[in-house]
Amino acid sequence: MRSLAVVTVLLSALACSPSGGSAAPTPAARPPVQDAGAPGIGDRDFPLDGNGGYDVAHYGLKLGYDPGRRFLTGTATVQASAKQALSRFNLDLAGLTVDQVSVDGAKATFDRKGDELTIVPAAPIADGARFTTVITYSGRPQPVKDSSNLGTYGFIPTQDGAFVTCEPNGAKTWFPANDHPADKARFDFEITVPKGLVALANGEMSRPAATSGGKTTYHWRERHPMATYLATMTLGKFELRQGRTPAGIPNLAAADPRFRSALDRLHTNTGKITDYWATVFGPYPFSSTGGVVDDFPAGYALENQTKPMYGGFDPDESIVAHELAHQWFGNSLTIKRWRDLWLNEGFATYAEWLWSEHSGRSTAETIFAGFRARPASDPMWAYPPGKARPGDLFNESVYTRGGMTLHALRKAVGDQVFFKLVKEWATTNRHRHVSTEQFVALAEKRSGKQLDSLFDAWLFQPRRPA
Ligand code: TRP
Ligand code: ZN
Repeated sequence: MRSLAVVTVLLSALACSPSGGSAAPTPAARPPVQDAGAPGIGDRDFPLDGNGGYDVAHYGLKLGYDPGRRFLTGTATVQASAKQALSRFNLDLAGLTVDQVSVDGAKATFDRKGDELTIVPAAPIADGARFTTVITYSGRPQPVKDSSNLGTYGFIPTQDGAFVTCEPNGAKTWFPANDHPADKARFDFEITVPKGLVALANGEMSRPAATSGGKTTYHWRERHPMATYLATMTLGKFELRQGRTPAGIPNLAAADPRFRSALDRLHTNTGKITDYWATVFGPYPFSSTGGVVDDFPAGYALENQTKPMYGGFDPDESIVAHELAHQWFGNSLTIKRWRDLWLNEGFATYAEWLWSEHSGRSTAETIFAGFRARPASDPMWAYPPGKARPGDLFNESVYTRGGMTLHALRKAVGDQVFFKLVKEWATTNRHRHVSTEQFVALAEKRSGKQLDSLFDAWLFQPRRPA
């Protein structure tokens, strides 16, 4: 408080000094535009991801893709509400050519710089107003090639279509987005592809597919809030298996013909595991479950909402358990800043251990003890999982040590409190945003224990917990 007061006094002294003095404003700095929305949503680790000043309620994405030319055409209708007066605002968009923008039906001007699309509506938007932006665009989408441990993500063209996995910020490679999990929205997709191909997006089909003039159009709707990184428009030749889980949730599995032999097992395991997680974590948060095996050799999986993607392999139960646990932890309960990523990956990793225990293989305790035995010099102990780092977001520590944190908590509070707590966490925060602080507070409240030092040692210290 005291140092803040000193700074304030200094600043006002500078502001009062006559121009021409030592405190003259730097001539290069452009004056800020009044009522401009910020170019980032406020995640200090990802300063340009997402945008400030508004909140998206709905994306309507009308998309066409030609795999031969690898060419995308799109019309994005973005419904949002202003959180401040807006003379201009940004969306995130990487590459592609914007042809036209309108706001509330009036032509708007726009500007591109890096991955920021700045839109200047014909008339300023009032604080609190709902407004609709329509962007028509086209081009050849380019995936993000990350130099750190992320590899390639975003819209990835394949032989017969596209493999679309966007965590953390690759949605902007195929649609103009407020591309940060702090702004979730509902989605409608209308995707047109050459006849013979299938387009798979999130949620359920809102109309039957229709073919005319050699093209097929698919309509998909995700009616629950979704973070942009979980959106997909995966395209290609697919075999489908449709049905319900034993408990009755619609379940759609899809596999590239090269992975035909994985289809039945994926469908069955997805049904069985979705239902089991509903008994552990509370009701399934979405209107359908499923999974997609494509032939793009990503070697990884992503928890795309309602349809996890498995890139180029026949997924075993463990990874299906991981991706389906994310439907609760990450997709329904969503982080507001990437630093809290252990709330996604630690929970999904711990779910793998719980699935192992449930299936009569190794118990979570055995798996935990195996990792616990790693020498103090192991790099996992130097990386505190509660502070996921922007250049190394998906470090093994965020997964494994994040999962270990939950097991340490389980041991400290006992099974009964632990499982009640996890279910309450997932149920009361359904479709909301969450933070590490909230989880710690709930754990303390439900256990009646002081857990600061446990969480501090497991999540925040750069060393192996004692
Ligand atoms: N969230 C994924 C998982 O652990 C991993 C992941 C991160 C990923 N970024 C990705 C997968 C990009 C595909 C594409 O399940
Ligand atoms: Zn994961």
